[in-house]
This record gives sequence, C-alpha cells and structure tokens, in this order.
Amino acid sequence: MIDKNSPLPIYYQIQEMIRKKIDTAEWEPGDMLPSERIFAEDFDVSRMTVRQAVTELANEGLLHREKGKGTFVAEPKIEQPLQGLTSFTEDMKARGLAPGSVLIQYTLRTAPLKVSEKLQANTDVPVYEIKRIRLADDVPMAYERTFINSAIVGELPEDIENRSIYYFLEKEKGFKIGDGEQTFEASLANTEEAGRLDINEGDPILLIQRITYLEDGTPLEYVKSAYRGDRYKFTIKMPR
Ligand code: GLP
Repeated sequence: MIDKNSPLPIYYQIQEMIRKKIDTAEWEPGDMLPSERIFAEDFDVSRMTVRQAVTELANEGLLHREKGKGTFVAEPKIEQPLQGLTSFTEDMKARGLAPGSVLIQYTLRTAPLKVSEKLQANTDVPVYEIKRIRLADDVPMAYERTFINSAIVGELPEDIENRSIYYFLEKEKGFKIGDGEQTFEASLANTEEAGRLDINEGDPILLIQRITYLEDGTPLEYVKSAYRGDRYKFTIKMPR
C-alpha cells in the first residue's frame, strides 16, 4: 500500500491510510492502533516515519495517545454551531448527549476587581462564584468558572449541581436573558484545568469568556470556560 517511488512523502501516505481506515469505520473510536514497531515492520519504513504520521493525526484530533498504553482512534469532536446564545445544557441536549455537572465550588463572595469590571459593578458587590465541570454523557467537556451578580439575581438554589442556570433564571425566576459577548482563545491546560478535564497538563484547550446581559443591558454573568481542545470544534455560518 506504500509506494516508495511516489512523489508523496511516505509519512503522508501512512497518514492517509490511517485516515481512510477511520473514515470507513474499519477502525472505530476507542480502537488501539498497532504499535509503531509493528507499523514500521509491516511497511518496511522507519519508526520515525510512522511517528510523524501518527503525530500529525494526533494534532488534528483524529488519534489520541495515552502514556504507557498506546495510540487510539479518538472520539469525533463535538461540533457546535455558533448561532444564538445557548446554555451548555441546551447545547448537549441538541446533540443527543446527557448534560451533567460536577460542582467544585459554590460560594457567595465579593467580586474580584476584574469580575466587577466585567459585570459593571462595584468591587463590594456580592457575586456567586460557581466552579463546575460540565459533562456530556458523563465525560468532562468543559471546566467553567461562573460569576453571577447576586444583587441582580437574588438567591440561587442550593442544589445547583445538576441544574441549568439559564433554565432556572429564565423559567423559574422570569429573567429575560438578552444577549452575550464571547471571546475564544487558544490555550494550554494548567494543572487545575488538566485535573478537572481529565487531560494532561499542557494539552490544548479553548479558553472561552462570556459576558451575558439581560434584555435591558444589565450584565448578569461573567464566565470563563476551558473547553477540551480534543473534543470540541466550533462552526460559524458567515453570510457575505
Ligand atoms: C454555557 C456558557 C456559560 C453559561 C452556561 C449556562 O456553558 N458558556 O456562560 O453560564 O452555558 O449553562 P447551564 O444553563 O447549563 O447551567
């Protein structure tokens, strides 16, 4: 299957061969790839060449390596269209996945300076600081640090863990969420994020910050989320 006389580099031919096996579902998510040694012997190429092919596919997110275990076919990424302001719960349900959370922290405190600026509030305003690991079918997808202005929303329920905050505010409290502003940045997981997301420190993440406003323009929440780079991709429709 490898043509050494082809102008296409050998690593590239191996890479495309692996890609084809995944595309045609001959290899499925979770399947372990043959070791570099076996690959190299089968194709009569160097292990370095095999490693290059595998590394590129791992960088693309098609394969993932587990230290001391091997290389596996990755789960396909969750593709999230960026249209409209949605909650994590809504996003997961729209994909047929079960949303869930693990509550790491839930405190009422005075706003840190940066948060008070984002919420256009005084530094002594009480805010809820909520840290949640967001799950899809029990797998960690994102680690979210949410600050909500309690002077605006009043009391939040004790049992926030497996509830949708947007659902609670809109359907149970009658708030009208208007719009949001969001930024995306590439980043690398720090120790805390890696631990919460079940990935390695230094793995790629998407850092997302959102300020959500009520219909009358009042800032409601400021959220910093770390989404797993290997599990997520965002799509946007761009009318010209
Ligand atoms: C997304 C947003 C957050 C928002 C959350 C609400 O994850 N990035 O800014 O707070 O949705 O989700 P839920 O209503 O499921 O609690």
